[in-house]
Order: sequence, then structure tokens, then C-alpha cells
Amino acid sequence: MLITSVLRCSKVMDKTLIELVGHQTQLIVELGEYAEIVHWGKKVSGAHAGFRQALLRPVPYGRLDNDVAMTLHPELGRGVFSSPALEGHRNGQDWAPVFTIIDVEHYLNGIVIKSEDNNAGLCLKTELFIDRHDVVKTRHTLTNTKVGIYQINRFANTLPLPERANEIMTYYGRWVNEFQTVRAPLAHGGYQQENRRGRTSHEHYPALVAGSKSFGEMSGDIWGFHFAWSGNHRLRVDVKADGRRYMQAEVIYLPGEESLEKGKSISTPWLYATHSFEGLNGMSHHFHSHIREYILPRSFKEKPRPIHLNTWEGIYFDHDPEYIMSMATQSAKMGVERFIIDDGWFKGRNGDKAGLGDWFLCESKYPAGLKLVVDHVNQLGMEFGLWFEPEMINKDSDLFRAHPDWLLAVEGYEQPTGRNQYVIDLQNNDAFNYLFERLDYFLSSYNIAYIKWDMNREVVQPAHLGHAAGHNQTLRYYDLVDKIRLRHPSVEIESCAAGGGRIDFEVLKRTHRFWTSDNNDALERQTIQRGMSYFFPPEVMGCHIGASLCHSTRRRHNIEFRGLTALYGHMGIELDPVKEDQKERQGFERYINLHKKLRPLLHSGRTWRVPTDDDSHQIHAVVATDQSEAIVIISQLTMPTHSLSGCLRIPGLDEQAKYRVSVLDHPSNYDDIVNYQPPWTKLGCELSGEWCKEVGLAMPILDAESAMLIRFERLN
Ligand code: GLA
Repeated sequence: MLITSVLRCSKVMDKTLIELVGHQTQLIVELGEYAEIVHWGKKVSGAHAGFRQALLRPVPYGRLDNDVAMTLHPELGRGVFSSPALEGHRNGQDWAPVFTIIDVEHYLNGIVIKSEDNNAGLCLKTELFIDRHDVVKTRHTLTNTKVGIYQINRFANTLPLPERANEIMTYYGRWVNEFQTVRAPLAHGGYQQENRRGRTSHEHYPALVAGSKSFGEMSGDIWGFHFAWSGNHRLRVDVKADGRRYMQAEVIYLPGEESLEKGKSISTPWLYATHSFEGLNGMSHHFHSHIREYILPRSFKEKPRPIHLNTWEGIYFDHDPEYIMSMATQSAKMGVERFIIDDGWFKGRNGDKAGLGDWFLCESKYPAGLKLVVDHVNQLGMEFGLWFEPEMINKDSDLFRAHPDWLLAVEGYEQPTGRNQYVIDLQNNDAFNYLFERLDYFLSSYNIAYIKWDMNREVVQPAHLGHAAGHNQTLRYYDLVDKIRLRHPSVEIESCAAGGGRIDFEVLKRTHRFWTSDNNDALERQTIQRGMSYFFPPEVMGCHIGASLCHSTRRRHNIEFRGLTALYGHMGIELDPVKEDQKERQGFERYINLHKKLRPLLHSGRTWRVPTDDDSHQIHAVVATDQSEAIVIISQLTMPTHSLSGCLRIPGLDEQAKYRVSVLDHPSNYDDIVNYQPPWTKLGCELSGEWCKEVGLAMPILDAESAMLIRFERLN
């Protein structure tokens, strides 16, 4: 084995130990014939030889005679009775490959391991990196080096978990109810989730957290995982019969979908992971910092995120350019910075039953063209954005009438529609090129700064020329976005899939914002946004103020609760501003101004999900990276459990510094005569960061479904 450019590595017995170091955590990887992570946790100084000696396992009676390592690439042939990393065969042969390391490249922050199995004619490359925010990423690449096609059934990323990881937090959800979390003990049987919906999905968000018993927001040992893939996947956390445990993530390949000719390779998606010994908040800090530094497209980092007005819930399919321009005029008066025309602008699109695929301006709705509207929006000082759903087709469209064979379908079978539509086969080059040409046409012909890229149905028959092709369909979607981004690098993209159905790290590499949910109900949004905040920073979370009567739940909320709920992320308005009364418009203006003032802090600071004394409220804080200020949103979700709600304690401030505490926004009925509110909420007060963290401030009394905004400013 050759090890190049070694940072810190040592020989222990006949093996080599390599240390990969983040900010607070480390990985110690043992390399011999195979690679095993022997420690992934808090950084510990000292000699490797001692560590290794300490971790040598006993060999229990009644099992294989030797110790069996839980490797980065579990193989049955080495006696690892876990879910194997690779399942495949060459016409029934070469089905049990055992790889041996032949070369390791060692970089400052990672290793690239090359292994081979000459009998099976396969080569494996394993990449493992850790960054300065403690985020680990890993993937494998398999190459067929022998004559004859190698058929791949499964190909997974595997990371070990220590035995003290005995509880998990996983996600579930649905349309208008994304990012719901559930906790469960991690015991025999482990946990498995399968997503077969053809997109990241609302139902099976590809991430989970494993940790020590009762891990919480502020405490506990945590290992968080995010699988960066926007199609079918399987996630598994397994408890082996001997008590060891591991996490595994893979693409679900459909039958016969992936096979390699000699010389060809296939890679798994990246699995991202992090260890935090400071609970879930610590985990989120790692992922948020990683996203900000490495995932978000570079060129947009400095630009403040413009406040949106999206037309969807305001006018739906009812497009009249004169009226839309009056909406734009009203939006600009309220301080909106980007105006987006949603669905309904193209040929044949008068409802959700027809038109998808015909990406030509609807001339009967826009007889004077689109430029008039775009210019109007630009003259008002706003950017212009437009909605597309490129991957989709209605049977009632010119495109389908001309190219019925462009459907992603298994020939000879009917398939159910989703929102009356079908998916286009992106592996068909003519279809792919047509979509690129149409998007390119609009982006080249008009001053479009932004597109909302939607994907409103699930994929049930992903076939190309009769062969299963779900994996490739997702890769071609990435290709299409990449090609557009290359041609129009200054255009920003929002990823939407009936709300939050395609939210993952791989999409974020090529887009700028997610439409979090079609649910604009402020109360429901509290839970949805909280769930998303575990892995994503606020600036990529699209949060809109909707109409007071929420369209998805028919619940009514006042402007203060809607405003403060949308304030937290990348803010927008989604209604018809022309129809709103003066009082509501003043409300929008108020929260737009607040957001503009606070967004530099919101979009760069550290997010804290603040523990509360009473579950009836939810508290969210963002603390500046230099700890000079913080803002806190207290949201009262239901009636307080008791007449007094305990104390508000804020973590993350400079404990030695003094802060001025003041209320920036509260419900309009806050000063009514029913309750006497804590004096600090009227007069403000000055407190040390340490007091704020350890003791706190008396909580105010808030009605259910209301919120309050508090500011902390450092005085010294
Ligand atoms: C999806 C999106 C909505 C809107 C509609 C338009 O449902 O999530 O925001 O764009 O499509 O048809």
C-alpha cells in the first residue's frame, strides 16, 4: 500500500492509522487490506498506538474465529454480516467481490482510497473528507476492469455509529406538511426508509439523526446524515446482532437499471454527515456553515436576498398583464424587490389540466408580449422572475400531440396521472434539447433574473427505451439545470416540487432557494420551517406572507403572526396586493422593512432552536457570528400550559459582554388591559450574556397563534 503526502499517520502493528481532523471532531481511519473508521467523534489528542490498543475488540465464542471489522465497504466475503455495500454480478459470477486496498492518497482534509478485486475485475475508489465545520462527506466509485458487463443491484455508502447511538430522529411528511420529525429508540431491527417516488419527496426526506439517549437541542452526542440525492433512495440505520451499528445510504436502482461495460464507472451520490457533542443545534451549525461555504453557488453569497412577490395565490391562472402590472406597482410601493409570475402565463395554461410542455407565451393572455410586463417590473426597480415546470407534460398540449413518445413511461402500460400530468423522458436527447432551447429562449429574450423550477408529480414509470431509468432521469435533471446555469450564470433558481418535494444538498449545489411548502399557514409553517432548519440555513428557506385566510388550511391569522413567521427565512409575499386594504398593506411594508434591516444578521448568523419551559411556544434565535447582536422570535403556538410561562434563556451570546434587550415587534393587542406584561418588554433592560443564557427573562403572556420579536445588542 502506498500512502502519499501524509499529514498525520502512524503504523500500528501491520496497519496504518490516519487522522482526519475537523474543528472539534476527528475521524481515525485504520487502513490495512480494507478501511475501518475506528473513531468518529470528539477530537482527542495523544498517541495513536494507545488508541488502537484500547479499541481492539474481544472475539466472542460461537461466531467467526477472528474479529470482523465494520468497514467503509461491508463485504460478505470478509465475514461482515451487514447489508453489503455492493451487490452485483457478471452473468451470475463475480457476485461476492472482496476489495483490497492498493493505494491511498492523503490530503489535508481527506483520503482517497483505491482498492481492487482482480478476480472479479473490479476497482473501487472511496473518497472520505472532513471540512473545518466538521462535516464529513463520502462516496464510492466502482469501475469494471474486466470484459463482460457487470450488473449492479445495489451500491451504498456506509458510515459506522458507536453503540451509544441508541435513539434516532427521522422525518416524515406530505404535501403541505413537510419536514415533520419523529423520535424512536434505536434497537434491534434498526430503521429503514425507502423512497420510490422518483424525487426527493415530501414523504421521505433523505436525512436522519442518530444520537445518545434523549439527545436534545443543546446536549447529547449526535451523528447527523444527509444523502445528497434527488431520486429514489434507501436509508438504513442498522443495529447488528453484536450491538455495533452503522448508517447506510444508497440510490434504489430499479431492476436492470445499472450495468457497467468494461472501462466504465459509476459513483454513489455524496453522503454528508457530522458529529456534534452539543446536541442538535451543534449539528445544525456544522451543516449550515458547510452549506454557506461549500454548497451555495459562490457568486450569490454577497448579494442580499431580494424580497419576493409571487403571483400564485394572488391570481392563480387568471393572467391579465394590465392587472399584473398593477400588482407589480403596488408591490414596489411596499418595498418588494423581485416580482415573480407563477404558473398560467404560457400557451393553453388556463388550469392544471393542459399546457405543460408548451413553453410559448400565451398570446391571447399577453397580446402585447411579455416584455411590456418585464420592463414595467424593472422600471419599478424590481427584478423579474418566471415560473417553469420543465420536466412535465400534459397530454392536452401541442408538445404531446407532436411527440407522444417523449413520455417517461413503460410502453404498453397505462400509468396514473399526477396533477393531470406526466413526466418527460429527459434521456431522450430531442426532448432534453427542446426543453433547454425553450428555457434558453426565455432567459435570452427577456431580462429574467430568476426562475421558479417546479416539479409537481411523482414518477411511476421511469423507463427509457423499455429499460428502467430512474437513476438516469435524476442525473439528466441535474444536467438540464447545469446546462442552463452555464449558459445563464447570473440567473437564480428556486427549486420547488409541489412545495418542499425536492429539497436536498445536491439540488442546492445548482439552485439558490427552496420553496419550503405550499402551506402558507403561519402556524403550520412554524413546524415545517423548524424541521427544515435542522439541515438548512434560513436564507435558502422560501417563506411567504400569505393572505389572512390561508388557502391551504382556511385558518385565519393576523399580519403580525404571519409577518414574524415569514421574517425568519428568505421572505416574500404571496397574495394579490391590489386587493388588500390599507391596513394589511402597511403590515406588509412593516415586515418587509424589518426583514431588510435584519436579513444581514438572519442570513449569516447562527441559528438556535431555543429550549423552552413550555412546549406551547417555540423560540428561534439567530446570533451574529461576532456575537454583537441577536434576534429572537417567540411564537406562541397553542394556549400556554400555565398562566406563567417560565423564562426565556438565550444561548450563544458572549457571556462576558453586556446586552441591551428590547422588543422590536409584538401583537397589536399586546398592551391590552387583561394582562400586565413583564416590565422589560416595555422598558427594555441590560443583562450579561451569561445571565441571558443561564437565568433569562420572564416570559411575556401571549395569545395562541401570535409572536414577538426581541433584539439583543452588545453594549461593550
Ligand atoms: C406548485 C407550487 C406552487 C405553484 C403551483 C403552480 O404547486 O408548489 O407554489 O407554483 O405549483 O402550478
